[in-house]
Amino acid sequence: MKSRVLGLVALLVLGIECSWAVSPADSLGLVPAPRTVELNDEGGFIYSPYVAIVADCEVEEYVRHYLPGGLFDFGGVVEILKDENLELPAEGYELTVKADSIRVRGVDREGLLNGFHTLLQLFPKEVYGGNFAGSCEIPALRIVDWPEYPYRGMHFDIARTFSTREQVEEMISHLAHHKINHLHFHLTDDEGWRVEILSHPELTEVAAWRGGDSPIWPVYGAWEEKYGGYLTQQELRHIVAFAHQRGVTVVPEIDLPGHSLAIGKVHPEILCPVEIDTSRSAGYSKQNVWCVAREENYALLEDILREICDIFPSEYIHIGGDEVDMSHWRACPHCQALMRQMGYTSTAQLQEHFMNRLTEILASYGRKPAMWNEATNSGTLSRDVRIHGWEGLEECRKVAEAGYPTVVMPGPYFYFDMRQSKNEDGHNWAGVVTLEKCYSVDLDALGYSAKAKQNVIGFSGAFWTELYLTHRHKYENYAEYQIFPRACALAEINWLPQRERSWQSFAERLERHKGRLEAMGISYRRGTPAEPEGRVITPAMRCSTSLPFRSEKSASQLAAYSNDYGHRTSRTSRDGDWILYEFVEPLVGVVVELTTGYRHVARGLFPSGVVEVSTDGKTFREVCALKGGCATLTLTEPIRAIRLRCTRTGNGDAFVYIQHPIIRKNEN
Ligand code: ACM
Ligand code: ZN
Repeated sequence: MKSRVLGLVALLVLGIECSWAVSPADSLGLVPAPRTVELNDEGGFIYSPYVAIVADCEVEEYVRHYLPGGLFDFGGVVEILKDENLELPAEGYELTVKADSIRVRGVDREGLLNGFHTLLQLFPKEVYGGNFAGSCEIPALRIVDWPEYPYRGMHFDIARTFSTREQVEEMISHLAHHKINHLHFHLTDDEGWRVEILSHPELTEVAAWRGGDSPIWPVYGAWEEKYGGYLTQQELRHIVAFAHQRGVTVVPEIDLPGHSLAIGKVHPEILCPVEIDTSRSAGYSKQNVWCVAREENYALLEDILREICDIFPSEYIHIGGDEVDMSHWRACPHCQALMRQMGYTSTAQLQEHFMNRLTEILASYGRKPAMWNEATNSGTLSRDVRIHGWEGLEECRKVAEAGYPTVVMPGPYFYFDMRQSKNEDGHNWAGVVTLEKCYSVDLDALGYSAKAKQNVIGFSGAFWTELYLTHRHKYENYAEYQIFPRACALAEINWLPQRERSWQSFAERLERHKGRLEAMGISYRRGTPAEPEGRVITPAMRCSTSLPFRSEKSASQLAAYSNDYGHRTSRTSRDGDWILYEFVEPLVGVVVELTTGYRHVARGLFPSGVVEVSTDGKTFREVCALKGGCATLTLTEPIRAIRLRCTRTGNGDAFVYIQHPIIRKNEN
């Protein structure tokens, strides 16, 4: 009581106003919700810059970043200290707010950080700006809390679109505030090699860049411009320390033996010596798989993994294992000879052979491997491997049932590169992933056995960045738009057991929590974007193109405006290719959306090109350039025909997708 009175006096002297309202538990809007919250009716703690902060030395610097506090108890005390006698599971904490004190007691360092992150949510949202110098009342309460799952993850890909150290750290900070404690850091892929390897500087010199004159072509993305970047080891160490301070473990991923097109452009000798037919893709080879039988490959891999282990102290190193195109191994005489020598009957066994070699390297540095779920297809992979299941909940169930420690992160629930409503930007191969869908995962309802559930160590979101670059210009921050608030749902399902989750309660708390997201500076998705204005019309037209369609029906279906997924051609784009829409009646007073490639996904498109219009159907004039394969025209004079003309050969694929235009009456 003494401290409360002193606090009040201090506030009155300083003329600072504060609110005394005590909120009921739900209106605190905590995300993720704690296990137990008891609110007390007595007055809360008056926080002011005059309170003393006493924090365990392992978290003190971080705590003081937000709550600098004072050294002397002129207005009560905020204590953040470990208590190993607390009877709570790992990472558990107790948070008690009384009139004279706030006490966070953690069973371990992680528990302290979890408690501190809850405490911050009890402050006005301005606390997230750092160096909080305001005053406020924190309601009297007692929270006892611990997580359901130890691996609360978010995967972040900087291989497809590069992110700087600062951008990655900002993301880690946002995740930490949601008690997400693992960053699965995807550092290499077909489209880029983003980690400095001191013994092989050529990897980043060449493979950190694509587009322009780089040997690494874009598939998605900007075509004329050379772009990219990489993180130095010094920057990566900074990221690791930054994350550790916030209770986040960085798990690096070097995606092997597939997804290795970028390193294969620098060291083509690592690939199987097989001929690839690239005639339909204008010379663009997708050969991206390491040869298993080439012994020298393991020396290069050891160089890489040794440095990775040196930079990243995590117990697990992710070495990929997904989407391996095994046709190269079937065609490779050396891989075939190895299979015969070892008595393997399937290429899945050959993949296991490769993964086991890497596992041995990691073991020599005291580390364990994590892999994607396909790596288990041989049936004999060691159960010590941590598996990240991405293909579906059923695949995750199978690996968990088979005895692997399993991170559940299937595309249809947790791939945050999927679009969030039908007509929004983003992939859709795993469907539309709404916030509610992400929250709805229920392993009981999906038939997971007790054994399978026991092997699930947590859920992870994933953000693959093929589309980040192409959509970046349209958003303040496309990564944040895609990740939040879905990561809030992810945080809660990781934190609470199924029986304690409630979509309705979460949705209500989230509304309150959005103020915090805003204060953290997150450009989260506010809601489903409005459809463009204007009634869609389908005026009679003919569609033709210089490209060969795969299906005979495509031209007539295009003219009928049917099939919103588009029509695939049987080769890539060439300089001079065209798509022509001829209207039976001249079109005017309309807005025309023109798309090459997939809708909302910049792939299979005309990588560069122009739009031409014709008033007589014979002579054309250029009106604009295609951007990301798309353009929008407002027709103010009668137009008989629109032609899209490609100005670049090759789009990174062996096809183009041709779409019907979307035409809206311009009612403005
Ligand atoms: C993956 O999405 N290929 C792991
Ligand atoms: Zn081979």
